[in-house]
Amino acid sequence: MTTQAAAFVGSIPENYDKGLGPHIFAGYATDLAERVATRRPRHVLELAAGTGIVTRRLRDALLPECHLTATDLNSPMLEVAKTKFNPDDAVSFETADAMVLPYADAQFDVIVCQFGVMFFPDKIRSYREAYRVLKPGGSYLLNIWDSLDVNGFAQITQDVVATFFPNDPPAFYEVPFGYSDPVLIRSEILSGGFDKVDVEHLPLRSTIPSADNFAQGLVFGNPLHDEIVSRGGDPQAVRAAVSSAIELHLGSELSMQGLVVHARKD
Ligand SMILES: C[S@@+](CC[C@H](N)C(=O)[O-])C[C@H]1O[C@@H](n2cnc3c(N)ncnc32)[C@H](O)[C@@H]1O
Repeated sequence: MTTQAAAFVGSIPENYDKGLGPHIFAGYATDLAERVATRRPRHVLELAAGTGIVTRRLRDALLPECHLTATDLNSPMLEVAKTKFNPDDAVSFETADAMVLPYADAQFDVIVCQFGVMFFPDKIRSYREAYRVLKPGGSYLLNIWDSLDVNGFAQITQDVVATFFPNDPPAFYEVPFGYSDPVLIRSEILSGGFDKVDVEHLPLRSTIPSADNFAQGLVFGNPLHDEIVSRGGDPQAVRAAVSSAIELHLGSELSMQGLVVHARKD
C-alpha cells in the first residue's frame, strides 16, 4: 500500500538524494553502517533503503562475503540507489513492502532500516515481518527521527509551508517526525515479537553550504511537494521562503536528533 506520505516517486528521488542526503541522512547512515558491520553478519537485509545512502556505506563496511539485500516500496528510489554501485558490488535490489516481506523465515543475521518505519502504516505488522525473517540471535537496527521540536530544520519547513495554506496546512512533516516516543516504539517492537529493545538518542550536527540547495531538498525531495501542488500552490515560492527562513534561523549550522533502536531476537 502506498499512502501519499510514502510516495517517493517522480522527481522526488533525485531531489531527496542531492538536497537532503548530504545534510541530514549521511551522518546517521555512517553511524548505522558501523553498528551493523561490527556484528560481522553474513546476510543483511535493508528495509526502506531509498536512494542507497546507507546501502553504499554498508557495502563499504561489511565483510566482502556478506550478502546485502536492499529493498524499498518505491522502485524509483532504488533506481537512484543502483547508480551508486558497480556490477561487481554484491548487492541485490528488490522492491518490497516492509509489511509484507517476500522472504522465508530466519534468513538474515541483521536487518537495518534508516528513517523508514515512520512511513509504514502498520508498524507492528512490519516488526512482526522483520522478526519472522531474522535468524534466532539476530538484530534489527533502526534510525528514527526524534520530534519536530529538536529538529529545527523540519519545524521551520512545516511552519513556513503552513503560512501558504493557513486553512489546510500540509501535514507531511508530521509523519517522519511524529513517531518518536521511546515508550511507544519499544512497546510496538515487543508486540511484533522481539525479545529485547534498546533505544538511544543520537544528536548530530552538519554544515549546510547552501540554504538554497537544502531548501530544494526539503520541499522537492519528499511528498510535501505533491501536497503543495495538490493545493494549487507553487513549490518554488515555498522553496524560496524556506531557504530564507533556514538562513535566518539556522545559518549554516544544522543540529538534529534521531533515535537509534536495537531490537533483538533470542
Ligand atoms: C526518508 S526515506 C529513507 C530512505 C533511506 N533509508 C535513507 O536513509 O536515505 C523513507 C523511505 O521509506 C520508503 N517506504 C515508505 N513506505 C514503505 C514501505 N511500506 N515499505 C518499504 N519502504 C517504504 C520510501 O519509499 C522511502 O524511500
